[in-house]
Amino acid sequence: MDMWKGTNMNLEDIRYIGTKDFKIDLFEGMFKVSEGMIYNSYLIEDEKIAVLDTVDKEFGSEWMEKLQKELQGRSPDYLIVQHMEPDHSANILLFSRTFPEAVIVSSQKAFQMMVQFFGQEIAPKRMIVAEGEELNLGKHRLIFIEAPMVHWPEVIMTYDTCTGALFSADAFGKFGTKDNTEEWLDEARRYYFGIVSKYGVYVQKLLEKAAKLDIKVICPLHGPILDKNIGYYLRTYEIWAAYESEVADILIAYTSVYGNTKEAVEYLEKQLGEKGCRVQCMDLCRCDIFEAVSQAFRCSTLVLATTTYNAGVFPAMRKFIEYLLERNYGKRLVGLIENGSWAITAARIMEEMLKKGKEIEIAENRVRIVSALNEDSKTQLDKLADELHKHYLESINQTGFQEVIQ
Ligand code: FEO
Repeated sequence: MDMWKGTNMNLEDIRYIGTKDFKIDLFEGMFKVSEGMIYNSYLIEDEKIAVLDTVDKEFGSEWMEKLQKELQGRSPDYLIVQHMEPDHSANILLFSRTFPEAVIVSSQKAFQMMVQFFGQEIAPKRMIVAEGEELNLGKHRLIFIEAPMVHWPEVIMTYDTCTGALFSADAFGKFGTKDNTEEWLDEARRYYFGIVSKYGVYVQKLLEKAAKLDIKVICPLHGPILDKNIGYYLRTYEIWAAYESEVADILIAYTSVYGNTKEAVEYLEKQLGEKGCRVQCMDLCRCDIFEAVSQAFRCSTLVLATTTYNAGVFPAMRKFIEYLLERNYGKRLVGLIENGSWAITAARIMEEMLKKGKEIEIAENRVRIVSALNEDSKTQLDKLADELHKHYLESINQTGFQEVIQ
């Protein structure tokens, strides 16, 4: 029940039965989670009892113990399966075997996936629900909302008309195990752009539906329960789903083999700083590359500085651009800085890659460093700084997010 601490909601009928995972190092095998991961699960106790989702397989026993403790000898009537990814669905079979009379409630697509994951034994008693269909528990009338591709195609969400709680599946979740909402933004952004952002158009459709609901609390499957400033979370998701930048800031993402490209990056950072631009530099070989992806979406402008390598682009930079494009990166100005000692090709190849993005504008002033920074390349960097500064000033008026965040 600790997750409800600090909320203003009177949600006595809703019990929290989630589990925290401090052993995990990489979520989905690729996203660093130094503070672990939380798998949320909920129980609504009414005339009928419904459980919403299970947890990761490592925590089946702990979850079942929590569930049994809350039930105090009663049996649940329903298990609502909102999402079939194993971090939430792994214990459906355990639930079904423990409570064979309970009905599994989910989308048609989810039942297909249940057979794929668990075989034919799964869910002998099932209720297939679709958009707008309802389940009445007594006081709590639940309405189901289809949310395909947020984050898998079978996803449904559940709105409780009694409390105004939106059980939002993966949406509005974050990495980490902290219960408070103060630090939601950064890890929620890294989570969103790591996992969901390819499907922004589907998130927009979900937000259109959410706008018609009187949401008083959001209960996601990861991260804290969100019960204050609901508009802030919805607005944040609107911006992310539309691939808009949050701030006018400039991100310089770079790789540097012997320090010469880094020296150019530091020179550009200084020039931009003196003009009043907010700049962040990230070494792609040393930082969490998905944090860099997340920051690229946060900022209005990106500068890519790298070395020609094996007649191509340095591997970490190539990977970074691929990660961005996979996630529909676009609507940004991108500056290019290349370095090399012979047959320099990095900027041309980066530009060719970036052409696949939507509405990516390449800065006119690209910079070529031949082995090391010199007066000529400094002059090129000065021109790039002027161009980026001009864009920065224009972006300040266009990024309507700061007033929401600050
Ligand atoms: Fe948390 Fe898409 O599973």
